[in-house]
Amino acid sequence: MRRTTEPDPAALWWQGAVFYQVYVRSFADSDGDGVGDLEGIRSRLGYLELLGVDALWLTPFFRSPMADHGYDVADPRAVDPLFGDLAAFDRLVADAHAHGIKVTVDVVPNHSSDQHPWFQEALAAPPGSRERARYFFRDGRGPDGAQPPNNWTSVFGGPAWTRARDGQWYLHLFTPRQPDLNWDNSEVRADLVGTLRFWLDRGVDGFRIDVAHGMAKPAGLPDMPAYLIGITGAQAHPAEDPRFDNEDVHEVHRLIRKVADEYPGSMAVGEIWVESDERFARYVRPDELHLGFNFNLVAADFDADAVRRAIDHSLTAAGQSPPTWTLSNHDVSRHVTRYGGGDLGVRRARAMALVQLALPGVAYLYNGEELGLPDVALPDWALQDPLWERSGHTDRGRDGARVPLPWEGSEPPFAFTEGDKTWLPMPPEWAGLTVEAQLEDPDSMLSLYRQALELRKTHAAFSGGELEWYGAPPGCFAFRRKGGGLICALNTSGAPVPLPPGEILLSSAPVSDTELPPETSVWLV
Ligand code: NOJ
Repeated sequence: MRRTTEPDPAALWWQGAVFYQVYVRSFADSDGDGVGDLEGIRSRLGYLELLGVDALWLTPFFRSPMADHGYDVADPRAVDPLFGDLAAFDRLVADAHAHGIKVTVDVVPNHSSDQHPWFQEALAAPPGSRERARYFFRDGRGPDGAQPPNNWTSVFGGPAWTRARDGQWYLHLFTPRQPDLNWDNSEVRADLVGTLRFWLDRGVDGFRIDVAHGMAKPAGLPDMPAYLIGITGAQAHPAEDPRFDNEDVHEVHRLIRKVADEYPGSMAVGEIWVESDERFARYVRPDELHLGFNFNLVAADFDADAVRRAIDHSLTAAGQSPPTWTLSNHDVSRHVTRYGGGDLGVRRARAMALVQLALPGVAYLYNGEELGLPDVALPDWALQDPLWERSGHTDRGRDGARVPLPWEGSEPPFAFTEGDKTWLPMPPEWAGLTVEAQLEDPDSMLSLYRQALELRKTHAAFSGGELEWYGAPPGCFAFRRKGGGLICALNTSGAPVPLPPGEILLSSAPVSDTELPPETSVWLV
């Protein structure tokens, strides 16, 4: 039912919330097919409550041929049978709410699946038809139109154009099975509004907007600069990239905001890969998205100066909106691995978890980071990400960060599924990283996250939206939350440094009263 009450402070629950990204394929499987599903998530809500997160972001579970694991949507208002059905979704939302956990879902407005009825109709219809106008169909260049309409390349490698049987080309910034929708088309806009209302009416608390910097395309589809051709994978786009961050995209976000405003307490966060802080800030103006994902922390090495720069950029880019903080997601290498892997990577990941969770604003955790999972070096035969094929086997893609979660037991599949196979193989070495193995161990990554989330939620030191930097030795930083007074110090210098004064609330590794060891962070009041 549509909610029509006036906004109250509870409606702003997302400001300061800790979101937990559930990569639905990989979280928990209830039916033994080796792929995670909605009932699997529901069966683990107790765990999520114990962990202490406020909200879930569920990656796409909509009807899809899974050419990009659900980011190719054939029906945005239906649940794919692989993941369950609408009744399972309703049960999940109701139970999550009963556990005090909000539920947000992904929407994918930049493109549809090639199996979407609209695209099938477009293929069957002639050039210039209403059916083709929902996408980007163009004649090719060259004498017989055999060259693509422009030089754009796909984010997953190869040309961004594929030729239809009748000789016209269609645009796809991702795989050929993800044709870009034309946002100048009123049916496309109306359909998104219908999708948002559909899920809001089922009780969801918000949305993650996929490729929020995409959608609008520049008039005439001009060529891209040569130096951008062929760059693959997740990365921030510069202003001169014509494929992204075009002015009209803001109309789409105003539309999304209008719908959200009809449902007080709902919110939207955009995935925004743009280089400049100023361009980023435009997405989170008061009449656009509530929040924007920035990826500055993802891009920063484990180096105090680099992390500090990333924090400052994120704060500037957020403008008046609460900043968001992300260390990992399903598109990038897990941070344990990025920071060097092994014990060193884990130690650094622990330190960065406390940095992330000390910052004012919204934290997004990616499932498995609370267990300290690293990337898995998968064999070629196991790779499924379209990036692997599309890049001509030069980019191994994102599968290594998407391996299913280990829950219990001493060997794969670690109770992820009751079946004997998982959609990506799980490494036997994860026996020590299961939830079961970590839950009662006070020194585990899971225990660190639980303590940190508990303190963040309950301790007055975490109040206040502003931070100030302290002087710190080279290779280190310290900041203070202005309101509540929490101090967070990080040492990336490789040698111990004096501990700032204060009472220790939590540290990422054992600290003495006087020294902060290397690769360590600490919370003080
Ligand atoms: C961003 C999503 O996070 C990614 O997984 C997907 O492949 C692309 N958008 C295309 O939808």
